[in-house]
Amino acid sequence: MKVYAHRGSSGTHPENTIAAFKAAAVLPIHGVEFDVHMTKDGELVVIHDESINRTSNGQGFIKDMTLTELKNYDFGSWYSAKFRGETIPTLREVLYVFKDTHHHINIELKSDIFPYEGMETKVLQMLKEYRLEERVVISSFNHEMVSNFKKLAPHIETAILFMEVMIAPHEYARLVGADSLHAYFPTALRPMGKEAIDSGKVLRVFTVNEESYADMLKQVGVHAIFTDFPERMYMCLNK
Ligand code: G3P
Ligand code: CA
Repeated sequence: MKVYAHRGSSGTHPENTIAAFKAAAVLPIHGVEFDVHMTKDGELVVIHDESINRTSNGQGFIKDMTLTELKNYDFGSWYSAKFRGETIPTLREVLYVFKDTHHHINIELKSDIFPYEGMETKVLQMLKEYRLEERVVISSFNHEMVSNFKKLAPHIETAILFMEVMIAPHEYARLVGADSLHAYFPTALRPMGKEAIDSGKVLRVFTVNEESYADMLKQVGVHAIFTDFPERMYMCLNK
């Protein structure tokens, strides 16, 4: 079972910052996951929430701020004074960290609450520029965005994110143009998890920070887990 660093090495660094990604980039893990939003001036930035309130010393929605405005805020101090000065990374800056590593890259399009028009096209352009089309999976809770992306780039792996048990997930995935399934871990432990794997789908599971859950998911045959503690989880799974 493979390990992905969730929001970078976010258990030991401020999530979705260059510090968290640099820490993940030197690990022998399989991949990395992060979240993308779009600024008022159309720039792609890596952050989990729609607003900067929780993870910076500022306030406001990403969609209402320009990249220049966002870059004035500190995204490290909320976690620890040691990380003071971390700024919000652009997608370009994060891809640069992984451009020469072996890591598989999961970009989550966070357009669940606010529509970010044209986000799919912008992400695709950047993947082409960095020649990363073979090394990414594009996921979203917004399944319309997954469909849009698949239509734009049929050769790039896509995945639907979901929380609850769904009937015939492989059939649903086919209908929306998703290659793989990214499920909430209690859902993956229900019979549906094994059914999805038996149907031939790749099943990756979030967010697994406990060794006991990782062991259970491994027994089921889950292909990968997203974890905030990639180093520890990798060691546990490979001891
Ligand atoms: O992509 C897996 C996982 O990150 C989805 O949940 O809320 O952590 O983005 P969330
Ligand atoms: Ca995510």
